[in-house]
Amino acid sequence: MRTLLRILLPFTVICMATLAQAQTGDAKRGEYVLATGGCVACHTAEKGGAPLAGGRELKTDFGSFFTPNITPDPETGIGNWSDEDFLKALRDGVSPSGGHYYPSFPYTSYTRMTEADVLDLKAYLDSIPAVKNVVPDHDLPFPFNIRMSMIGWRLLFFDDSPFEPDPTKSAEWNRGAYLVTGPGHCGECHTPRNILGGLNTDLALSGNKNGPEGDSVPNITPDPGGIGDWSKDDIVSALEIGLLPDGDFLGGAMTDVIEDNTGKLTPEDRDAIATYLTSLKPIASNDR
Ligand code: HEC
Ligand code: HEC
Repeated sequence: MRTLLRILLPFTVICMATLAQAQTGDAKRGEYVLATGGCVACHTAEKGGAPLAGGRELKTDFGSFFTPNITPDPETGIGNWSDEDFLKALRDGVSPSGGHYYPSFPYTSYTRMTEADVLDLKAYLDSIPAVKNVVPDHDLPFPFNIRMSMIGWRLLFFDDSPFEPDPTKSAEWNRGAYLVTGPGHCGECHTPRNILGGLNTDLALSGNKNGPEGDSVPNITPDPGGIGDWSKDDIVSALEIGLLPDGDFLGGAMTDVIEDNTGKLTPEDRDAIATYLTSLKPIASNDR
């Protein structure tokens, strides 16, 4: 009996420990959440890098960032992360060791993602192949190379309020608002920034002449200088296959967005984004 206990007891303890870490999220749903968040574009190295294994260089005015490996490799990826660690990174911009992430990681938008979406996404990331890939350190000049400098930046610019559905609007509108301002992080490119890299939210989505790689990013509010004369179908075609009303195709940084995010959404979700964008206050912007 005692021998049996000696064999069984550790086994039970291990089982309980596994249970305690049991997945709370739904990996299948999480794969869709990954698309709504457009994570693949940034977290995959150009020229055939393994999906989500990191190493893509993002050049900004503040230096070069190299995206981390977010596959479940325990050493070079996020294999040892708990659900809590992942929630804290995506919604608070804080790492498991307490460091503050740079806003080149758009946690500033992901903070509006629901807990359920984030946990489903984590369950999906736990299910993909672990890839061992050490990525280069960021290449940032002083003072940006000091992570602590982000504490001040957060105080000035990080608004961590959750997404609040507007009860006076339709479910479709609210879904669009969630996708655009939360996981879709459209404003991270389409909203102008001040010289410290904070988003100018009064001019939300009205265009940004200094977008990724120094490209200009158009106004997507219903202003005549934006998408004022676009129908909802025009917006849907642009999001689905990059087709513009004049027959041309979108390029630049929007290519990845269409490939990894808006092109992979359900037709209902693309309609919801169009409904939300056409409802916005038109903002004229000199920024483009
Ligand atoms: C615009 C590019 C971009 C997008 C889109 C993006 N990330 Fe990141 N991510 C980064 C950068 C850059 C860092 C590193 C930030 C730092 O070092 O402070 C990062 C860091 C992370 C980290 C922390 C990893 C670690 O080892 O500390 C996680 C987790 C993460 N991202 C997950 C995601 C998920 C999930 C998505 C999609 C919902 C996503 N990212 C979308 C650029 C991006
Ligand atoms: C990584 C930066 C980036 C993100 C994120 C991004 N966009 Fe774009 N978007 C661009 C750029 C750059 C263009 C212009 C491309 C071109 O001119 O070929 C563009 C163009 C567009 C256009 C066409 C506007 C026009 O007048 O031609 C629409 C519509 C659009 N984006 C919607 C969105 C929506 C909705 C989201 C969020 C789901 C989003 N974008 C996220 C960079 C981005």
